[in-house]
Amino acid sequence: MAAAIAIPRELKPESGLVKSSYDNFEITEDYSVPIIDFSLLTSSNPEERSKAITELGMACEKWGFFLLINHGVPESLRKSILEWLEQLFNMPKEELGKLGGNHVMDPVRCGARYFRNRSGEPTEMGYIKLIVHPEFSCPDKPADYRDSVFEYCKRVREIIAELLKGVSESLGLEPDYISKATDLDSGFQRFVSQCYPPCPKPELAHGITPHSDHSLMTIVTDNGINGTQTVHNGKWVNPCPPSGALMVNTCDQLEILTNGKYRSNIHRGFQVANTKRISVVSTVGPSLDKIIVPAPGLLDESHPPAYVGLTMREYYELHQSGNPAGKAMLDLVRIAKKETA
Ligand SMILES: [Fe+2]
Repeated sequence: MAAAIAIPRELKPESGLVKSSYDNFEITEDYSVPIIDFSLLTSSNPEERSKAITELGMACEKWGFFLLINHGVPESLRKSILEWLEQLFNMPKEELGKLGGNHVMDPVRCGARYFRNRSGEPTEMGYIKLIVHPEFSCPDKPADYRDSVFEYCKRVREIIAELLKGVSESLGLEPDYISKATDLDSGFQRFVSQCYPPCPKPELAHGITPHSDHSLMTIVTDNGINGTQTVHNGKWVNPCPPSGALMVNTCDQLEILTNGKYRSNIHRGFQVANTKRISVVSTVGPSLDKIIVPAPGLLDESHPPAYVGLTMREYYELHQSGNPAGKAMLDLVRIAKKETA
């Protein structure tokens, strides 16, 4: 097994408001964003399921992003989560900040952070970050929503486990390969929400720095105000999800595990004119103490290991310690290709 490496502090990703080359990409409306039907992926009809697995593999390889329909998360549950967040972000910022701690491993973190628009002006944004698995944490304020948050997080975890089973099969691996290699039953799951204020100058709006996520897969939804963009073929794409669809990103740990065959997706969230936007992001990754390395079944002489192993805990702490633009964090564990004579 590959040993975990210690990354020197000077190699930590940049902190603060980071400018990125992705900021200059053109924005396009693209209606060919892959759509995966979860009911077909879990179908008892082998032909339907096989077709859905092929489509899932293509989406992971070509986009690292797809829309998920017929996923089974009740709309009433999704709305309940948004109701809770609406009340939470209406709390005074000082009170919000007292609900949690400041360390990246604190189970509850709340407060306000800043992002920049295109002219460099900082804008305040409310946030909450919870660790919800293997231990579930959630503030008791506002009251009466804890059970809904627990149920939503459980549903999302089950969906991602099923998607990862399909991903394993799409790579020609055993269906439970990723689950076992990542100790997914004890997987590290987070629930993150950001509240973007209305933007009086949408032409200048930017949001969080373009980045890839640290986990295996991320599921994103919002309050119906679509403000997520993803990079595809050198352009920013507005995915325009159909009503009720969830957005799914493939993340850094999946890129490492698949030795780069399925690449993590670069994305960003942003403000929208005259309307508050609340995003709901759920990330599911390996167990914190598991060292993640490329799957041996995907390696051969032509495909040597492209990443060194880190534990999920080391990767997550580094990822959260700054504001890594693009794939700055993943680049730290990438093995340079040998020059051929
Ligand atoms: Fe993200």
